[in-house]
Amino acid sequence: MAEFEPKIVAFVCNWCTYAGADLTGTSRIKYPSNVRMIRLPCTGRIDFMLLLKAFDQGADGVIISGCHPNDCHYTAGNFHARRRWIIFRSFMDYLGLDTQRVHFAWVSAAEGARWAEFVNSVTQDIKKLGPYEPYQKLAGAGVE
Ligand code: FES
Repeated sequence: MAEFEPKIVAFVCNWCTYAGADLTGTSRIKYPSNVRMIRLPCTGRIDFMLLLKAFDQGADGVIISGCHPNDCHYTAGNFHARRRWIIFRSFMDYLGLDTQRVHFAWVSAAEGARWAEFVNSVTQDIKKLGPYEPYQKLAGAGVE
C-alpha cells in the first residue's frame, strides 16, 4: 500500500513567504511537493472561511504564512491575521475541527531554507495525523 501523501494548502503573502518559497526553488533546496500555494497580497487579506473551504475540497492540512512582525508591507496585516486566527481557532475548536492541521508561520523573502524546513515539518506532522477523512466525509469533499 502506498504511503499517505497529504494535500496541504498554503495561503501565503506575496511579499515575503511567496518570495521565500521562490528562493527555495532558485536555491535548488528540495522540499515535499505536497503543498499547493495560494498567493495573496498580504496575510491580512485572508478570509479564514477559506481554510474550511480548503478542507471541504480535500485538504489534509493548511499553512498560513507571511511577513515577520513589523515587516508587513501593509504595516499591520500580519498582526490582523494573527489576531483573527486566534479567534477563528476558537471557532474551529467549538465546531470540533482539528486545529492541529492548521500551521501558522512567518517566513521572509530571504528565508528559502526556512520555508523548506517548515514545509518538511508540517508535512511530517500531517502525515502522522493521517487523512482528514472525518471532515471530508462530513463535507462531501471530492477526495481524489
Ligand atoms: Fe506580508 Fe502583510 S505583506 S504579511
